[in-house]
Amino acid sequence: MLLVEKISEMQAISASLKRENKKIAVVPTMGYLHDGHLNLIKKAKSSSDIVITTLFVNPLQFAPNEDFDKYPRDMERDIKLAEEAGSDYLFCPSASEMYPQNYGTLIAITGITSKFESAMRPTHFNGVATVVAKLLNATQPHFAIFGQKDFQQTLVIKQLIRDLNMNIQMIIAPTTREEDGLAMSSRNVYLSEQERKDATIIYKALGEAISIVQKGEKRRKIVNAVMHKELRSVPYIRIDYAAAADSEYLFEPEEFLPSQQIVLLIAAYLGKTRLIDNALVTVPTI
Ligand code: PAJ
Repeated sequence: MLLVEKISEMQAISASLKRENKKIAVVPTMGYLHDGHLNLIKKAKSSSDIVITTLFVNPLQFAPNEDFDKYPRDMERDIKLAEEAGSDYLFCPSASEMYPQNYGTLIAITGITSKFESAMRPTHFNGVATVVAKLLNATQPHFAIFGQKDFQQTLVIKQLIRDLNMNIQMIIAPTTREEDGLAMSSRNVYLSEQERKDATIIYKALGEAISIVQKGEKRRKIVNAVMHKELRSVPYIRIDYAAAADSEYLFEPEEFLPSQQIVLLIAAYLGKTRLIDNALVTVPTI
């Protein structure tokens, strides 16, 4: 696996690969790779000739009070894991390469960024959209792979690719989980032993909500209440949101319609660690 730090070099490599008719897939990450990331790399490998993994902890998507400085990093380990999973290139630019002194462009996504993650983190998705646009321009892929784990992020990137007429096919890969259901996340390392045990309540709450929707419950507030009740069985949990919404636009109708696809979204703190997860369920037709 070749390490590339310069945007111009990355672009030259992609251009040359394209001249050889190679299909290129990119997997953007912030590193500290776990099986969730590695499954994206493997999926990328199965759909293309060349996989570029990007590793960049993007300062623009962290608010000043968030964990940018202490976000976990382990470059040596990431290089090894990315290579073993099948990555051909690791694009790992410095912050000054991505945002030089005269940098001045921010991409703002509207609509789907009015709620959920954005309510709690108002500048987050502009930072994500901006860096993803830059990473896609640097790597020039045919395919870009993202995880369903960050559901709202996938909607933001879909919107970005569509609105800016990028000629890139987006692929969304399912969430990789620990054996007890906890979604893998670089932030899981922050959890204490007790918090790690209790964190499975998020997966359980999603399961309860899926089950009542599949049994015919269409009232959004009832579905939300079921998730809240389950989550609150861990008394110290702090719920940011536990909500059912339309999976395409995140609308929140009083009642969902038969055959509508719902996304169940949860964000909650266990101690100081904020975890997010989601699940999709389709309302049965009568
Ligand atoms: P990061 O949190 O490192 O995640 C990189 C990619 O891995 C994202 O597409 C994310 O959805 C996916 N991912 C994380 N955990 C996963 C899991 N358990 N199962 C499946 N996929 C998982 O998301 C980001 O970085 C950044 O916002 C980024 C898109 C790289 C822009 O900076």
